[in-house]
Amino acid sequence: MTPFDTENTDRLLSTTRSVRRRLDFDRPVDHDVLRDCVRLAAYAPNASNAQDWRWVIVTDPDQRAGIAEYYRAGIVPPMQELLDRRRADGDAPGVRHSEAVLYLADRFHEVPALVIPCIRGELDSDMDFAWTASLFGSILPAVWSFQLALHSRGLASTFTTAHLLAADEVAALLDIPHGYLQTCLIPVAYLRGDNLKPPARKDPDEIIAWNRWA
Ligand SMILES: Cc1cc2nc3c(=O)[nH]c(=O)nc-3n(C[C@H](O)[C@H](O)[C@H](O)COP(=O)(O)O)c2cc1C
Repeated sequence: MTPFDTENTDRLLSTTRSVRRRLDFDRPVDHDVLRDCVRLAAYAPNASNAQDWRWVIVTDPDQRAGIAEYYRAGIVPPMQELLDRRRADGDAPGVRHSEAVLYLADRFHEVPALVIPCIRGELDSDMDFAWTASLFGSILPAVWSFQLALHSRGLASTFTTAHLLAADEVAALLDIPHGYLQTCLIPVAYLRGDNLKPPARKDPDEIIAWNRWA
């Protein structure tokens, strides 16, 4: 007897995937469901329990269009190049991935909610690596909880970072103050169609080293 229904929790953990082609662009996402998922995300571990977060949730069509331009500028040129290389190499799964990324980029402005989790802090090239790890480690677990909570409610998302190439411009667009870092951008919509299936992943024995590096 386990304290949770592991069949269900394991299914949630193994099928929360990056969704691009199956986002429902036509169904609005209610503020209440997004608020509820942020509430659950806030249970995630974070350094000193400071919770120095601000989740900027963009549903306004003009603001979404502005962000989408920056996102596209960041992702399309390198992804198109990667797609060409993957095609030349006959890498079918790679081609599918690149095409899906470009599809989402093309329709980015249509995604009902664009969520930008921010954390208080600044990046400094002299900063000790431990502080950088602590900074991002204090929000990325919450981001994943947010994505899990979305999925369990029939929504879908993708972890993205491409817009950060224009982080200053997006900060200006959204009035994000100096001293807060955008950490990623999660496009959120309802999932169209059937449940998702677990993706291919490495076997644990390939990625675990017991007791010492091996
Ligand atoms: C740090 C990071 C940055 C990512 N950036 C993007 C992005 O800008 N655009 C995108 O479509 N997907 C992005 N992804 C999603 C990955 O492509 C995806 O997680 C990976 O291909 C595995 O697929 P899965 O999530 O469906 O299992 C990013 C993922 C991570 C962890």
